[in-house]
Amino acid sequence: MRTSFLQQLFRKKSVSEILAELTEKESSGLQLKRHLGQKDLTALGIAAIVGAGIFSTIGQASYEGGPAVIFLFIFSAVACSFTAFAYAEFASMIPVSGSAYSYSYVAFGEIVAWIIGWSLIMEYAVGNITVAISWSDYFTGFLEQINIHFPRWLSMDYSSASAAYNEAIKLMDSGVDISAINTSVMEGFEAYSNAPVIASMRIIMDLPAFGIVFLVTVLVYRGVKESKNASNAMVVVKLAIILMILAVGFFYVDTDNWSPFAPNGMGGVLKGVSAVFFAYIGFDAISTTAEECKNPQRDLPRGMMWAIIICTILYILIALVLTGILNYTEYKNVGDPLAYVFERIGLKRLSGIIAVSAIVAMASVILVFQLGQPRIWMSMSRDGLLPRRFAKIHPKFKTPSFSTIITGIVVGVPALFLDLSFVTDLCSIGTLFAFSCVCAGVLVLNQRKDLPKGRFKIPYLNAGIYLPLILIAASVIIFVTYPEDVKDFVLNKPQLVKPSELVPDLTREEIQNLSFNNYDSENLLTYLEQIKSDDQYKQILQEGDIPLEKYILSGWDLFKLKIPMWTFIIFALFMIVLSVIRKFSLIPTLGLVSCFYMMCELHVSNWIGFGIWLIIGLIIYFTYSRKNSKLRSVSKTNA
Ligand code: ALA
Repeated sequence: MRTSFLQQLFRKKSVSEILAELTEKESSGLQLKRHLGQKDLTALGIAAIVGAGIFSTIGQASYEGGPAVIFLFIFSAVACSFTAFAYAEFASMIPVSGSAYSYSYVAFGEIVAWIIGWSLIMEYAVGNITVAISWSDYFTGFLEQINIHFPRWLSMDYSSASAAYNEAIKLMDSGVDISAINTSVMEGFEAYSNAPVIASMRIIMDLPAFGIVFLVTVLVYRGVKESKNASNAMVVVKLAIILMILAVGFFYVDTDNWSPFAPNGMGGVLKGVSAVFFAYIGFDAISTTAEECKNPQRDLPRGMMWAIIICTILYILIALVLTGILNYTEYKNVGDPLAYVFERIGLKRLSGIIAVSAIVAMASVILVFQLGQPRIWMSMSRDGLLPRRFAKIHPKFKTPSFSTIITGIVVGVPALFLDLSFVTDLCSIGTLFAFSCVCAGVLVLNQRKDLPKGRFKIPYLNAGIYLPLILIAASVIIFVTYPEDVKDFVLNKPQLVKPSELVPDLTREEIQNLSFNNYDSENLLTYLEQIKSDDQYKQILQEGDIPLEKYILSGWDLFKLKIPMWTFIIFALFMIVLSVIRKFSLIPTLGLVSCFYMMCELHVSNWIGFGIWLIIGLIIYFTYSRKNSKLRSVSKTNA
């Protein structure tokens, strides 16, 4: 009984079945239209990759890591390339729309496919919510520049506005002058204060974020050809602007700003993992268009690789130019770093052009993701895991019409209300999970001899030999460079809570107590953050007469934050053993290990958020999908 339950959970599709279904659809005229060539795919990849990451989140990542943030770009690019190889091998073997979802249905079986499909929904839907919110920030900022004032309560989410309102009140209560309060805090304050109240609820929402999702959904509904043309045009605009930024910026670089190169050490660089990885998300989205490609087996792998290579070069150059023109410390909380840097050096007109191009760039990311997501839902529906309507193809436009509308609602409505940082991290963890599964999928399929070969095959190197060598070399380098950090980590040495986490917690009296040394509360946070050593910081807290133990993390409270990293260490050891036994191929193994590593660098709260998302997914699977799966009826017929 137990075996049969497990067998059901892991029932697999066969590659030949999938290919036969595809041929059947083509002959019955129910297939999608094949419009996309290699250049279109590369352009779609760039359209999906270059967006909020480079126009927005790179600012804070540069502040945390300094110029050395380029190492994170290189590391992420390498991890993404390994994964792209894995995607490419799958896409050339199984050229259907569902991307990682379809691949894992063959490699691992239904339950894993469901979980991956569910994670991809998180990647595309939550990713698009993130980009739509950033788009709205740039858009309303641009309107301000041309003297059009969009009401703040209609361009912000409720929780940011209410948090900003409370912070502003706290600062004002402690005597800080309004003019000295941070602009973004005052914008939130204004939104909250001016919002209309209906039934004692303040109405605050991000209407432009909803608006852009709505417009893009209409375009994607209309057809893949229209979407492709729009996306190609947007890519030309954003690449032209980025090249211009590099060409102009190059003349303003002061190489002194690159020294020190890694001012906050490896810890500082790694704080940017989620932001930098986010900047690469999207190359995989083109694999969802496999059924709309003229020659998917040849063009998909090449399109993905070209997109990653081009974007990596651009990202590294941009990071170097940004941190070369201004000192990295100037990017603290800067949400529009590319426009900001040119404004700072007096090139206001260029800064305005960049703001417009950011609006275009982010719209193209939204477009590709809105294109990708319905195609995953369509694939899941064809397999019976979602209701049949999700697979409906529009008779005239030949697009998955119902899924497209649902995608618009699922992305547009939350974009009205959610807060940016929450969704960025959630998107990164969901995507990393899906990437890890794709790499693992290739390793599993490589062990099977019964499958047809695709046209693209990852070059083989034995991971059993190279993986231990690479991991030992990396550990030695880390230990030699940061011996103290490694020791503290292993021994769970008590740590001080970071100043930025401390200040919002302080009561008014505590802030006043801390206001010695002529530092009043308004610039206290900046002051505390300039303190580099724990000892200095401890002294400040003691002089301010604040119970120190409240701000020291130790024991379980500290250890629980390290659980993801310990999980990675155990996982890496496990992979070494498995690679030696199974003689895995090196590239997908490194893809799996590096994606899992990045997941483990994310805060434990993201794991909890992602875990809740998976539990919701499993509830749907067990109450609906398992019973309606096509494979269930196949196994019944066979029985
Ligand atoms: N990579 C995409 C962006 O940065 C998601 O907007």
